[in-house]
Amino acid sequence: MDQTNSQDSYVFARNYKASARLDLQHHLWRSQVNYLLHPSIPLSLSSPALRVADVGTGTGTWLLDLARQLPPTAQLQGFDIDISQCPPKSWLPPNVTMRALDALEDLAADLVGKFDIVHVRLFMFVVEEPTLLLRNVVRMLSMLAMPLSLALASLALSLLWKSRLEPDGWLQWEEYDNETAHTIKAHPGADSSAFDALFQKFAALSRKTKPLWVKTLHKDCEQQGLVDVNVFHHATSLERLPSMTDLFMMGWEELIGMVKDEEKAAELKNLFPRAVAETRRGLGYDMDRVTVVAKKGAS
Ligand SMILES: C[S@@+](CC[C@H](N)C(=O)[O-])C[C@H]1O[C@@H](n2cnc3c(N)ncnc32)[C@H](O)[C@@H]1O
Repeated sequence: MDQTNSQDSYVFARNYKASARLDLQHHLWRSQVNYLLHPSIPLSLSSPALRVADVGTGTGTWLLDLARQLPPTAQLQGFDIDISQCPPKSWLPPNVTMRALDALEDLAADLVGKFDIVHVRLFMFVVEEPTLLLRNVVRMLSMLAMPLSLALASLALSLLWKSRLEPDGWLQWEEYDNETAHTIKAHPGADSSAFDALFQKFAALSRKTKPLWVKTLHKDCEQQGLVDVNVFHHATSLERLPSMTDLFMMGWEELIGMVKDEEKAAELKNLFPRAVAETRRGLGYDMDRVTVVAKKGAS
């Protein structure tokens, strides 16, 4: 993919099934990680002036869930290159807006330094490497927001001590770690031959279906000047593996529908029902969810 002029090369569909899949994925994700915002982020969710951005918001499901936990005075903005999967404007809470934005293009000036929290989730199948996106989301993060009197007092103190005001915008970036992908068998005899073959064929289809950058995202964050960088891993609990596996089968079915090469599509379509049958006979599939949390460092 051309990273300087991204345009929209999203590999998945944006129809009702794709939207329902994103929503299912979100609810499963939330049930497995047990947070919307990682508890290590030391911002008070009751703060009346919190400003939150969700970049690549999809159906807006994460942002809308978070809005229910924040005061109505908090400002929440969802951004996506295509906002057709979001609810209509008139159905959104008054403090939530959705805006079309190509997050790989130069950042609009009105978004620079604007947000206390920037959330990014699931660009692993969108970008082949995260630097451009990371640069933009870092630029979106705010510096410390405080009442004017306190700000002046802090400024005076920082001048006195020759230090800088501490910035406080937080990034939470969540992905699957493709390199932890593995099958799990409910019993030793469970067959995985069709599933394994399907997996290999997808990996060979495009580099985008086998991203490798998630493992080093925390290092990229540090390179972009973020500090207090922490990584958290979450595997799926066994009793929820069937849901996780179904979710991935839905994603693969969607991808098969997008394959233009007729011969490759026919091979995948032939394998798919056999792989699904294997999952019904005790074959599960999982990969870790990874959350990278980081704070904007002094620049
Ligand atoms: C896999 S979906 C994830 C949606 C959402 N973050 C979630 O977790 O449910 C990736 C999203 O990124 C969006 N996207 C793709 N390229 C983009 C770009 N250049 N700028 C902004 N959003 C983009 C897609 O339209 C899609 O909604």
